[in-house]
Amino acid sequence: MNTQSIPSPAVQASAANNRTGYRSFTLGGFQFSRDEYFVHIGWTAKGQAMSHTMSADAFLRAMMRDVAWGFFYGWVNFDAVIGTRNLYGKVEMYAGRYHPAYKDKGLDHTETFESPLIMATFKAILEDWTNEGFDPFAAPDETGKGWLGVKHGSNSAAIERERQACKRMPGLPGDTPLRSDTNGYPVNRAFADVSQDEPEIHAEAGFEDEVQGFSLFKYLSRSDVTWNPSVSSVCGRSLCCPTTEEYILPVKHGNDRVEWFIQLSDEIEWEIEDKNTGAPRAKVRMKAGDVAAMPADIRHQGYSRKRSMLLVWENATPGLPEMYESGKLKPYPIEF
Ligand code: PHB
Ligand code: FE
Repeated sequence: MNTQSIPSPAVQASAANNRTGYRSFTLGGFQFSRDEYFVHIGWTAKGQAMSHTMSADAFLRAMMRDVAWGFFYGWVNFDAVIGTRNLYGKVEMYAGRYHPAYKDKGLDHTETFESPLIMATFKAILEDWTNEGFDPFAAPDETGKGWLGVKHGSNSAAIERERQACKRMPGLPGDTPLRSDTNGYPVNRAFADVSQDEPEIHAEAGFEDEVQGFSLFKYLSRSDVTWNPSVSSVCGRSLCCPTTEEYILPVKHGNDRVEWFIQLSDEIEWEIEDKNTGAPRAKVRMKAGDVAAMPADIRHQGYSRKRSMLLVWENATPGLPEMYESGKLKPYPIEF
């Protein structure tokens, strides 16, 4: 048998720091280090050593999303300074590129990496900096304070969690079999009032394998993660990605296409800013039943006081980012 081993990209990491136990990492011209509370990101601009500091928990929550979503659509801003842009095959990492104070003074830095190298580096950082007891996908009320302090243990189970992707529709033959633990996920404390009834299905004879229905509310009431849309149906290029949201979306997503939000329960407040400058553009408070189109030229971040259910509807048509960027498509879907 001809077996080939695929070399994993070379991640550049230092030895563990004597005091904190954390490793430092280098990716091109960027340096990453962490201490008891903070993450420090360094780069050089105009011959000056620049550095940016983030709370380690905010950083880990953001980096977890970037890794889990494979750099997502468009821009994933960890905050107003640091982030990544998906070039689909390559990924740009930037510091200050979309922050006018850095950009206007030429103190920003952007570098493009092959996706496997930046992915391997981000995974290695997450693995080393996520301590036992901290789950970057969990709501703050549902995870420990493990992100704090010097290195203690790890939580590979949380950061390597595999998303279950549908092949057909939950319940239809041929769909991804339910993992044995999935049905056993408890109803989340915030969704104790959500009905657990499933619909009755009366399929015409011969169509039993093609007709299916299930309660999406029941399904979502058992989600154990926050701010992590999962593809629950694929119809042509149309992806339905429901998710449960509590506390703050850990990234400011810069859209490279229009996306639609349908608020399925409770409330989310969205802060919407100009994609390039971060200048405030709108605040949108979405209540159960509200529908909004998020334009292609914004970045946005959501706040959900109580765990809520949101349907993110994505358009996976190839070539969309170029059509918006060239002005061929308007950044919004409807002209009123
Ligand atoms: C988005 O940026 O559109 C987004 C990302 C993650 C979510 C919800 C919305 O959980
Ligand atoms: Fe978005």
